[in-house]
This record gives sequence, structure tokens and C-alpha cells, in this order.
Amino acid sequence: MPDIRIAPSLLAADFSRLGEEVRAIEKAGADWLHLDIMDGHFVPNISFGPGLIKALRPHSKLFFDVHLMIAPADPYLAAFAEAGADLISLHPEAGPHLHRSLQTIRALGKKAGVVLNPGTPVDALTHVMDLVDLILVMSVNPGFGGQSFITSQLSKIATLRKMIEATGRDIALQVDGGVTAKTAPDCIAAGADVLVAGTAVFGAPDYAAAISALKGGR
Ligand code: DX5
Ligand code: ZN
Repeated sequence: MPDIRIAPSLLAADFSRLGEEVRAIEKAGADWLHLDIMDGHFVPNISFGPGLIKALRPHSKLFFDVHLMIAPADPYLAAFAEAGADLISLHPEAGPHLHRSLQTIRALGKKAGVVLNPGTPVDALTHVMDLVDLILVMSVNPGFGGQSFITSQLSKIATLRKMIEATGRDIALQVDGGVTAKTAPDCIAAGADVLVAGTAVFGAPDYAAAISALKGGR
């Protein structure tokens, strides 16, 4: 059984106290910080940009996992890398050249990820597996926190776990959307090893207890 990493999504934090919130989840045992970038075009919501990531960077040693929900993404990859992202993930629908976008992220010295919407098939990944450090399965349609987990995505996670094993490489398999202490065990059983959780962490009174519950008490 691989180690399960928890990546709280800052989208559900108190935006009036972001520095404190990041320090609090780091102290509570978060493994990564998930940063949701929304442009009001690729998804019907607007969040924040590289300026906020740059401002938070000196306040945290956490691995900064930047989930781009913007189109086009290519013109902004360098800005997110310079702001302090450790990993940048994007959706295949965000531009015409997924392979080139992944090459660009790698050339910037960052880890690269591909995000599959609930309706996007795993085939989108077949010919880019060698450029991928993380695969993110969306278990809600992207744009908002606090939505319900779409259970049909569990079989996609299981398929991707097999595809990852076939590469023999260490590729993280992340799930994002509606992940709670209730849905997390199914995600882990299907093969996910990084769980994104917004509401389930920042909406809880005790962040450490929430993170440990997501790990199944491990
Ligand atoms: C949705 C975002 C998620 C979201 C998760 O578009 O990608 O990261 O913040 O929020 P919860 O955990 O509340 O579903
Ligand atoms: Zn996300």
C-alpha cells in the first residue's frame, strides 16, 4: 500500500487569512498544498493567480501543487513556475498541444501533471505518459468546491493505476472533488495516492483530525 498524501485545497480556506491558513494546515500534517487557478472562461469561476502563490511561497515549505483551470494555459506556465509552483497540472482541453505544454513545464524545472475531467477519457494520456509526473482525476466537474463525489470516476482511477504500473515509473495518482472521510477509502482502494480536499479540511474544526481521518486514521 503506497503512502497516502493529503493536499488541502486553498479554495476552501478563509481568504482573509491565507498566510495563517497555510501555516495551520502545514502544522496539522498536510503533505501538499493544492492551489486551484480558475479563469472564469475554462471554468465558470475566478479564483486567484501567480501573485498570490508568490506571496504565500515564503510562508510555507509545503509542496505547491498548482491545478490550472485556465485556457490557454501555455502563456502563463512560466509565471506559475517563477511564482513558486513545484508541480503544474493542466487539462488536455486547455490548449491544442498537450505534449508541448508538458515539455514546457518540464523545461521550467517543474513536475508536470494532466487533469482529466469526469467526461474526459483516459486515452488522452496514452501518448504523453513519459512526460507525466502526476495524473489528476476530477471527481466533480471543475469550478467549485463543496460538490458531491461522482462515483463513476472510481473505475477511471483503477484503470489509470494499471496504466501507471505498466510504465514502471513513479507517477502520482491524485483525485480531486468531493473527497471526504467517507469517499476517501474508495479512492484509495481504487489506487489513488494523493487526495485533494477543500471542504473536508478547511471546513472542519480540527485540521489535524480531518487530515488523519482522510488517511483512514493512518
Ligand atoms: C474544483 C477544484 C477542487 C476543489 C475541491 O474545481 O479543483 O480542488 O477545491 O473542493 P472540495 O474538496 O470541497 O470538493
Ligand atoms: Zn483542484
